[in-house]
Amino acid sequence: MLTTLPLERVYQFIEPGPVVLLTTQAGGAKPNVMTMSWHMMVDFEPPLVACVVGAGNHSFAALRKTRQCVIAIPPSTMAKTVTGIGNCTGRDTDKFASFNLTPLPAGHVVAPLIGECVVNLECLVRDAHLVNRYNMFILECVQAWQNPELDDARTIHHQGYGRFAVDGKIIEIKSKMR
Ligand SMILES: Cc1cc2nc3c(=O)[nH]c(=O)nc-3n(C[C@H](O)[C@H](O)[C@H](O)COP(=O)(O)O)c2cc1C
Repeated sequence: MLTTLPLERVYQFIEPGPVVLLTTQAGGAKPNVMTMSWHMMVDFEPPLVACVVGAGNHSFAALRKTRQCVIAIPPSTMAKTVTGIGNCTGRDTDKFASFNLTPLPAGHVVAPLIGECVVNLECLVRDAHLVNRYNMFILECVQAWQNPELDDARTIHHQGYGRFAVDGKIIEIKSKMR
């Protein structure tokens, strides 16, 4: 027998992950970083990514102003750090220092890459039409980096309230879809 799922819990099942970190740097301010799991692919090439950044977040103003950011994909070993980063704000915390993150220079954007992450994506805001309505930015990835030392790393996928699934068993099925 099926039971009713409260609508406020829907996101816990649809949210695809992986949980990512989004870095920004506005003007002369220190770089900032936030945790983000509401994102999705929109196109292959150039890679377009839609993401929702709450208007109350310090990162929102920086992203809207600079129109650029880095999406960094952390390994599962960083789960506690990722949660901590998403539970405080760059308004009053230097998160790169507090969480011992290594900022690395990017090629196309001012926001830093994160040395501890598996993959870093340098992104430009391609479309901001949905920002006022949904806080949704369409980002274009203009340069991507991977960390060969973290080739075997697992990613984490948010299920709400500090619960994460760690990427696991892989199965391969013949498919025409890339
Ligand atoms: C697992 C997790 C996922 C999150 N996903 C999002 C998200 O997709 N969008 C968002 O706006 N905030 C998300 N947050 C909350 C922000 O990371 C949080 O509000 C953060 O304090 C913002 O930092 P800032 O004020 O320095 O920008 C998430 C937090 C956690 C812990």
